[in-house]
Amino acid sequence: MKFATILGARPQFVKASPLSRGLRQRHQEVLVHTGQHYDYGMSDVFFEELGIPAPDYHLGIGSGPHGAQTGAMLAAVETVLQKEAPEAVIVYGDTNSTLAGALAAAKLHLPVAHVEAGLRSFNRRMPEEINRVLADHVSTWLFAPSEVSRQRLEREGIREGVHVVGDIMVDALRLHGERAAARSRALERFGLRRGAYYLATVHRAENTDDPDVLRGILWALGALDQPVVLPIHPRTEKRVSELGIRAVANVRVLPPQGYLDMLALQRGAACVLTDSGGMQKEAYYLEVPCVTLRNETEWVETVATGWNTLAGTDPERILAAVAQRPGAGTPHPELYGDGLTARRIVEILSAGVPASGLTGATARS
Ligand code: UD1
Repeated sequence: MKFATILGARPQFVKASPLSRGLRQRHQEVLVHTGQHYDYGMSDVFFEELGIPAPDYHLGIGSGPHGAQTGAMLAAVETVLQKEAPEAVIVYGDTNSTLAGALAAAKLHLPVAHVEAGLRSFNRRMPEEINRVLADHVSTWLFAPSEVSRQRLEREGIREGVHVVGDIMVDALRLHGERAAARSRALERFGLRRGAYYLATVHRAENTDDPDVLRGILWALGALDQPVVLPIHPRTEKRVSELGIRAVANVRVLPPQGYLDMLALQRGAACVLTDSGGMQKEAYYLEVPCVTLRNETEWVETVATGWNTLAGTDPERILAAVAQRPGAGTPHPELYGDGLTARRIVEILSAGVPASGLTGATARS
C-alpha cells in the first residue's frame, strides 16, 4: 500500500521513527513535513539522530496564529495528497499539523490512521484538545495507547476502528534508549551529577502566555533545593525575553536538546518538572518521578501509579510535589504496552481499509 505520513512538530518526529521503519519494510511511505517546527534543534536534529528518512515534501509553513497556520497546512497538504494519491494517511498526536493532515485527508475521502487516539484532557481551551478530538472523529483507524483511551472514544460514540496497541513512544525509547545511554555526554557537558539536579521544560500556551503563571513557575524552579536545567522551547524563550525576565538563580537555561541528550538528562534527573505530554511518559518509563505543571493530564495512568503528580502552576504546590515525590521501591507497573506498538499498527494497516468505510462516521451512527 502507499501511505502518506503528515508530521511537523518535535514530538511527531519521535513517534514516527519506529513506525516509519516498520512501515517501509512492507509498504511505500511518502513523508510530508509541514514545517511547523523549523529550527535545527526543533526538527533536523531529530531526523539525523533517529534515522528518519528525509521528508519527500517540506511545506515550509512555519509559525503563525492557529487559524492561519492550520489553514496554510490544510491547503498545502491537500495539494500533496492530490498529487501523490496515497491509499491512506497517517497522523500523530495532537498538533496543528495533526489536524491539518487529518482534515485534508478526510475531505479527499482518504482513510486516516490516527496514532495516539483517544487522549483527552477535557480542557477545550487547549489547542491540542481540539486537534485530537477532531482528528479522532475523522479517522478510520484509531490507535489508542491504553484501555482508558479506548473508553474515552467509546463515550464519544467511536467504537469502530479502535485498536489498543500501546504507546509508540515506548517503541522509540526501546529503539534509541541504549544508544542515548551510551552516546550522550549531556551530563558531563553541563556539569551535572546523576540524581543531583532537576530537569524542567515549559512550553504549553496556557503556561507561557500568562505572565503571572510563567513568572510563578520560574520562581518555583528557582526555589528548588537542587540546581535545575531548563532546555527552553522557542515559544518560552520569546515570552521570557518579552517579559524582561533575566537569569533566575539556580536555573540554567539550555537550548532545545536532541532526543538522545534529552533521554540522558531525564534518566539522570532526581525529578522531572514539565508540561509536556511526552515527557510525563518518558519520565515514567525511565523510573524518574515527574511533577506535571498542569491541572489535568491525558496520561492519567501515570498519575494513578503515584509517579506523576499534577501540581498545576502554583509555586507552593510545585515545591511540595517535588519534596513529596515517590522514592525508590515505589511499585512501577507496566503501562502503555511492551514496545511492539509499531509492529501491531503495521499489521493492522496491512490488512487494508476496513469494509466499514472511510471515516467510520456511518458505522458510528
Ligand atoms: C506544538 C504543539 C504542541 C506540542 C509542541 C511540541 C500545537 C497547537 N501545539 O506547540 O502540542 O507539544 O509543539 O514542541 O500544534 N518556534 C520557533 N522555532 C521552531 C518552532 C517554533 O521559534 O522551530 C516558535 C514559533 O515562533 C512560535 C512558537 O515557537 O511562535 C510556537 O510554535 P507552534 O508550532 O505554534 O507551537 P508549539 O508551542 O511548538
